[in-house]
Amino acid sequence: MRDTTCSGLHATEVIIDLLTDSGTGAMSAEQWAGMMRGDESYAGSRSFFRFESVVKDITGFDQVIPTHQGRAAEKILFSVAVKDGDVVPNNTHFDTTRANVEYQGAEARDLVIAEGRDPSVILPFKGNMDTEALRATIEEVGADRIPMVMLTVTNNSGGGQPVSMENVRAVRAVCDEYGLPLIFDACRFAENAWFVKIREDGYEDKTPKEIAQEMFSYGDGATMSAKKDGLANIGGFLALNDTEWALEARNILILTEGFPTYGGLAGYDLEAIAVGLEEVLDENYLRYRIRSTEYLADKVHGAGVPIVLPAGGHAVYIDAAAMLPHIPPHEYPAQSLAIELYRTGGVRGVEIGTVMFGTRDPDGGPDNPAAMELVRLAIPRRMYTQSHIDYTAEVVIDVAGRSDELAGYRITEQAPWLRHFTCTFEPMA
Ligand code: F0G
Repeated sequence: MRDTTCSGLHATEVIIDLLTDSGTGAMSAEQWAGMMRGDESYAGSRSFFRFESVVKDITGFDQVIPTHQGRAAEKILFSVAVKDGDVVPNNTHFDTTRANVEYQGAEARDLVIAEGRDPSVILPFKGNMDTEALRATIEEVGADRIPMVMLTVTNNSGGGQPVSMENVRAVRAVCDEYGLPLIFDACRFAENAWFVKIREDGYEDKTPKEIAQEMFSYGDGATMSAKKDGLANIGGFLALNDTEWALEARNILILTEGFPTYGGLAGYDLEAIAVGLEEVLDENYLRYRIRSTEYLADKVHGAGVPIVLPAGGHAVYIDAAAMLPHIPPHEYPAQSLAIELYRTGGVRGVEIGTVMFGTRDPDGGPDNPAAMELVRLAIPRRMYTQSHIDYTAEVVIDVAGRSDELAGYRITEQAPWLRHFTCTFEPMA
């Protein structure tokens, strides 16, 4: 019988859970201590002002609006600023961002550089936006139909790849030419700052915080999921300079999330995020974080497993199209691989391919494929040890060694949007 609770696997049935790095990290003693000090006043709590001052310090944005997570910030921003027929350019929209843009009747257009769609090309900043494509898009649709330009740092759907400061400045320059606001999807801003520090000339002596501050200084606002680089289990925010957008956003916030000084969160959550945003910029933490993801990438790639190169910040992305050339995109090779990783070793990853980003054929034919067929193994922050990662690598290498045995899947039920969260499958063979 169909499981109508959408629960799928129970987490207790998973050995190594790499489904997401979102809200799954371990909180520090300081964060827990902050939670004990949480002020639960309905309005104007001490915890809100602490949270607000940390967000302002890092981003420089004047208006800070807490939300229960990232997609709530997206939903509110787009309800205020995006209308039917608009086009929102981004390097690559994450799935909830794309869905929230489309929900307003607008088009979400991905303009990552061409190399960002090729898993095997090694470049330091594969998350960069193609600024010529941005200019061409603005010329094509007209600036009045573009409410904002977005940059996702790091570029999650494109392999967790960073965006360089040079590219941020170049995107800003195009925005200035046409009078457009630039909004960051800042979920992994600290990991992006670390990549800038170690890969971009002129930043080696800057702190991650200085780099983040510089990046935000080129923008007009940000949506943020504090479940990633906020090091918290829940939370997010919308930060803006435009006071009119902020006024409208707060009115919607009251309707859907809560009063503007808590926005769907408990006072203790605001404390946890305030501490997390400071801890995430610690150099020792970031060095360990980026290196441990790279460690898994090195191990599996060294054994011949095709992955997105170089390693992303928060995740290793296996290139299922290269590993399973016998399974066409509309039979979901990355889903097949994700299932086999679980069956073999209890490792749970997630498909980022045609299930997530393919489009349905209106006449019932095969889906139009996504740009890439990836399985993402996202590493929760401060959670797993080297031996967990060694075990994961063994499972991946074992499955890769018998990849010709894997078969495709067909979808048996699907929702009209964000289908990958709830759809059901059956094997083709
Ligand atoms: N933007 C990006 C780049 C994200 O990765 C996510 C979430 C969101 C926005 C939405 O934030 O979940 O707090 O509502 N990504 C998670 C993931 C779910 O697994 O990558 P949210």
